[in-house]
Amino acid sequence: MPNKLKQKITLIGSTGLIGSYFLEEISSDDYQSVNAITRRRISNLENKNFIKQSVHDFSDLEKMRTDLKTDVLVSALGTTIKKAGSKDEFMKIDHDLPMEISKIAKEEGCRTMILISSMGASSISNIFYSRVKGLLEESLEDIGFEEFHILRPSLLLGKRTETRPAEHISKLIIDPLSFLIPWKYRPIHASIIAKNIMFLIRGNISGKNIWEGRSLFEIRKSFPPPDP
Ligand SMILES: NC(=O)c1ccc[n+]([C@@H]2O[C@H](COP(=O)([O-])OP(=O)(O)OC[C@H]3O[C@@H](n4cnc5c(N)ncnc54)[C@H](OP(=O)(O)O)[C@@H]3O)[C@@H](O)[C@H]2O)c1
Repeated sequence: MPNKLKQKITLIGSTGLIGSYFLEEISSDDYQSVNAITRRRISNLENKNFIKQSVHDFSDLEKMRTDLKTDVLVSALGTTIKKAGSKDEFMKIDHDLPMEISKIAKEEGCRTMILISSMGASSISNIFYSRVKGLLEESLEDIGFEEFHILRPSLLLGKRTETRPAEHISKLIIDPLSFLIPWKYRPIHASIIAKNIMFLIRGNISGKNIWEGRSLFEIRKSFPPPDP
């Protein structure tokens, strides 16, 4: 078992909402190394030179192999069906890419996989988006990581650079009333997810673990406080 403070962390989806909050929250003495795999350089990381940025075009994943020598792989990669342009393209981005990348990471010795999935993910769902998320969960489970954490958030809150009108409107309506919403459907801030990822990295819960509904809001309660 590697010393949890000496772990190498690799993130895909680094430029997204969750990825950005994660890189913002992480500090230099938390881990041995942090590698953000991106399609374009992130400019606001000047004061965090402990974060390595690895730019790839994702067309030949073998070129990523060296960057996937890691102890922990975090996937916050994904798109929308609208942005992808078709259901087939969405499947390629939201399922095939993270699956292929995770396979390579496992071959390179990765023991912990942390996947940002989605509320309602199920391989037998009638909703295409949820079905793809469920299929990805199953594909990653088959890869056989020692620790596999699946986080299933509902609507994500936080500051986005890109505008998503439908998401924006639902946030305006839902956010103030969120305490009335059942845990499973309750919007969650991306910064909470980012902190949760760090708890999971430091923790030691082997096997497959699904964090959804109330447990997603209370992940920190699953871990003892650090030694004084
Ligand atoms: N938004 C929500 O309310 C919500 C709710 C539940 C679950 N989720 C899921 O949670 C995860 C993270 O969500 P998020 O809102 O943080 O995501 P996001 O802001 O949309 O960011 C997505 C990330 O994936 C990368 N990406 C997209 N297409 C790619 C491609 N073809 N090749 C390589 N990288 C690609 C993006 O890179 P570029 O910057 O280069 O495009 C970006 O880093 C996603 O899987 C999402 O489906 C989201």
